[in-house]
Amino acid sequence: MSRIETLIASMTLAEKLGQMTMTAASFTVTGPVIAGDSTASIRSGEIGNLLNMVGPGPVHEIQRLAVEQSRLKIPLLIGLDIIHGHRSLFPVPLAEAGIFDPLLWEATAREAASEGAADGLALTFAPMLDVSRDPRWGRTVEGSGEDSFLAVEMAAAKVRGFQGPTLAAADALAACAKHFVAYAPVLAGREYASVDISERTLHEVHLPPFEAAVRAGVATVMPAFTDLAGIPMTAHTALLRDWLRGRTGFEGVIISDYNAIRELLNHGVAADLPQAAALALHAGVDVDMMADAYRHGLPIALERGLVSMDQIDMAVRRVLRLKEQLGLFDDPYGRCHRHETEATIARRRALARKVGAQSLVLLKNDHNVLPFRTPLKSLAVIGPLADAAVEMRGPWPAAGVAENHVSVLAGMRAALPDAKVAHAAGVSIEEDDTSGIPAAVALVDQADSILLCLGEAAVMSGEAASRAHLGLPGAQAALATAVLTRAHFLGKPCAVLLFSGRPLAVPELVDQSEALIAAWFPGCEAGSAIADVVLGKVSPSGRTVICWPRSVGQIPIFYGERRTGRPANPSDKFTSKYLDSPNEPLFAFGHGLTYGAFRYSNLRLTPQAIDVRGTLQVQVDLTNEGARTACETVLVFTHDVVATVSPPLLRLAGFGRLELPPGKTGTVSIAVPAQRLQFLGTDLSPVFESGVAEILVGPRANRADLLVGTVLMQGG
Ligand code: BGC
Repeated sequence: MSRIETLIASMTLAEKLGQMTMTAASFTVTGPVIAGDSTASIRSGEIGNLLNMVGPGPVHEIQRLAVEQSRLKIPLLIGLDIIHGHRSLFPVPLAEAGIFDPLLWEATAREAASEGAADGLALTFAPMLDVSRDPRWGRTVEGSGEDSFLAVEMAAAKVRGFQGPTLAAADALAACAKHFVAYAPVLAGREYASVDISERTLHEVHLPPFEAAVRAGVATVMPAFTDLAGIPMTAHTALLRDWLRGRTGFEGVIISDYNAIRELLNHGVAADLPQAAALALHAGVDVDMMADAYRHGLPIALERGLVSMDQIDMAVRRVLRLKEQLGLFDDPYGRCHRHETEATIARRRALARKVGAQSLVLLKNDHNVLPFRTPLKSLAVIGPLADAAVEMRGPWPAAGVAENHVSVLAGMRAALPDAKVAHAAGVSIEEDDTSGIPAAVALVDQADSILLCLGEAAVMSGEAASRAHLGLPGAQAALATAVLTRAHFLGKPCAVLLFSGRPLAVPELVDQSEALIAAWFPGCEAGSAIADVVLGKVSPSGRTVICWPRSVGQIPIFYGERRTGRPANPSDKFTSKYLDSPNEPLFAFGHGLTYGAFRYSNLRLTPQAIDVRGTLQVQVDLTNEGARTACETVLVFTHDVVATVSPPLLRLAGFGRLELPPGKTGTVSIAVPAQRLQFLGTDLSPVFESGVAEILVGPRANRADLLVGTVLMQGG
């Protein structure tokens, strides 16, 4: 018998339920082990998995309880939300996605994994694969934006990065594809609210990233808190058991979200804890995170005949198998012993700086305000986000501490050792007090150039951070008006850095500013990365992966909406439009300027006719007509001219990047497998229909900015 089967055969029910339970050791980075009541339960084998603990010392100490003092000596599986870095934070996922570089996405996850593993962890609850088309929803920041294809690409890269070539390696983390599935379209963008979307949207938009994660070998999956058309995901047999396990062949561990099994009572689908536990187990949930519903509910559910011991054994088997794959049985302390060298940490921070700079999105740059002309003699760094190292972490800081983060002010001071760099916050992030504005405006008079740092606090996005208004919080709009008006009056270059975990609806700010960068939350090297870009060492190249609405009333707004029978027509009232707003977003998906100026020409598509097995080669020439070297991201969209199902206006099918010095021309080649031209037919299975497909190539999801060619699709 294998090790796992031998173990299962010798386990008591309590020990089995222990392997199906994950509980929190209070989060600790440097402090002592805080396992509280868990200590006794770990020794007795009644807790087999932990979340939220960090550090080789504490992890080693608690692992010892399981491995040396419990009857069966089964190691603990210990996890933490390492979303975009562990101690060294990289830009938030929404920002990183806009770099459109799978190798880089993989590299940051690899670094995060090895840093987390060196801290004793074996599991991260990432990547988050929720496709969000509603920036009111705070968790938009944790994902890759509005596009499903991008989420698919990012899912695969992140799983490869976190897990590495083998899970058994001491620097690998088991990844967790979450939140399964369709959590983002919560009603009106309100966190944890009910979800009700079509089968087609589910299969077309929300499921593909999870399929990609499974293909990439993701070790675990977490169901969403939410219900889908009345069935809570934690109990969704059709999607968890039949689709995820049955259809994609996922054999890994399904871990509930925090307390989600108990919340089945609140959803109104279970009368008591045993019933809730039985529902989750039936659906295929192996591990109960924080509800203690399996330990308390399943013994009664067994007595009532609601579940069988075979089902319990199956869940235990999956958990033990994962622990075995992670090498925990062979070397339970393998992830606690490694000391990271200074060189490793320096290399990681250099990567954070590079990725940080690349993730900045230059939304606007009238009169080439940016980069600032150097040398600068004086600079005013104004605003509540200017000296805010703690905010640069974003809403999921893992073990990243503020002292380890470079604020904008610190970054600019380091980059300009000979300049006078003055600072005033002007206002706080959220309060209405405007008394500090005059002092901030006074700095404008004394400086050559001004950087105005505005936006959200990190906690205003992420979990439980839905917003109904997407403007600048507090009195920041007043500060912006005062500073920008003064700078304009004096003719001084002023650039706005806007920090946020989502696109904001700030048309006035966009109007008032000449140069505007969406900085999101750039991570530990925020200030250095920003200095690199505003001083021209690096040309910005990030793109927004979610469109920026003009107002909350436009939401949900995304580039892939379907055609309508009455397309907007300004001279016809009875067409699809608003009376009081344009239809278009302020900035389209893909928007982001560089310090170059790229002209697209000579679109070539080969072959001109393809069947579903073929691959389309898309080539386009780029000429950098600007004065600086820059990197351009090229997006390839498709659009079926006629299909049995009304097609989206545009569908992303590929992307590529090219760096060019001024005056040079180069070619970008992007391969698009014909399968990406498939869509879900009337019965929701993939079809490749004969007909004409438009292939549209350019910088952003705006037809006027795209070159258009056509290919003939030869369906079978
Ligand atoms: C979140 C998950 C997270 C878990 C553990 C939950 O509240 O929804 O995304 O992985 O907590 O921290």
